[in-house]
Amino acid sequence: MLKVGFVGWRGMVGSVLMQRMQEERDFALIEPQFFTTSNVGGQAPAIGKDSPALQNANDLKALAALDVIVSCQGGDYTSAVYGPLRAAGWKGYWIDAASTLRMQDHAVIVLDPVNREVIDRALDAGTKDYIGGNCTVSLMLMALGGLFREGLVEWLSAMTYQAASGAGAQNMRELIAQMGRVHAAVAPELADPASAILDIDAKVAATLRSADFPTQNFGVPLAGSLIPWIDKQLDSGQSKEEWKGQVETNKILGRGANPIPVDGICVRIGAMRCHSQALTIKLNKDVPLADLEHLIRGANDWVRLIPNDKEISVRELTPAAVGGKLHVPVGRLRKLNMGPQYLGAFTCGDQLLWGAAEPLRRMLRILVE
Ligand code: HSE
Repeated sequence: MLKVGFVGWRGMVGSVLMQRMQEERDFALIEPQFFTTSNVGGQAPAIGKDSPALQNANDLKALAALDVIVSCQGGDYTSAVYGPLRAAGWKGYWIDAASTLRMQDHAVIVLDPVNREVIDRALDAGTKDYIGGNCTVSLMLMALGGLFREGLVEWLSAMTYQAASGAGAQNMRELIAQMGRVHAAVAPELADPASAILDIDAKVAATLRSADFPTQNFGVPLAGSLIPWIDKQLDSGQSKEEWKGQVETNKILGRGANPIPVDGICVRIGAMRCHSQALTIKLNKDVPLADLEHLIRGANDWVRLIPNDKEISVRELTPAAVGGKLHVPVGRLRKLNMGPQYLGAFTCGDQLLWGAAEPLRRMLRILVE
């Protein structure tokens, strides 16, 4: 059995990974060892199987004894540990949720329902580093993989509506705290059916702008508002999140040398853990809508085509409906006024599942089987 070390299993992505691995009985197939940066010697998590006491996540000798390391600990940990571990001659598999190594030539971005051939080629070639992709990119490819596989996409623009979870657990808490603060500010007026809506609105606006509104994590209000920038500012004028769209899509598809243009504007909204995206796709030929639907629907076991119908779209194509679920709905599919080669679509997916933990879990499973 492969000895597999887990680092960062207690955090949000790590916890989702642990949950999914238990659901799929993955632990039965490996010898797990759990690592910590703060509680060495503590008890390993209850995963339905005994494992040794927690080991030190910075102990290179202990790490070097592993066949596989799965890290959800974040980029700083990867930067601190990965290099020295490889320099010391460790030849095991490194599976990581952080973006640190994603674009390195020695690393593959894993999303096996979309790029299993890329992964298999890399395994045959002796590649040891398998990194989870950016959440919006992975979710977009889970939804539209069928069009890419068929070579139909000339370019794609993704306008995103990203959930608080992408910014971290503290940000999710802050979003809820903001919502609560807004409600509390106008609770008496809301209880009175005769109160004037413009008075309520003015009070809400003043609350959002007040100095004591809770914004330690986001920096600005998200509840009752949005944030039109995600991650760092780049010289290109893009945010780093927007930059990832093209480079990661093409790397996942194994076409870095002949990239498909991908760009858009990434926006944070007040959803909890589902990222949504409005997509404009320029097809390289005019394909009938029914054929496109057929390709999209058949691409993998998780994509779910939602008919372009109001009732079903508002019920099933939303963060409220999709949070915590593995399926990736895509709908609002129609040819746009720009011409028969322009396709509109909308998709929504759980940012912590296919956007983070699930591709890592499945990569581990590929190594085991
Ligand atoms: N960068 C993403 C976000 C999450 O901020 O929503 C990780 O892919």
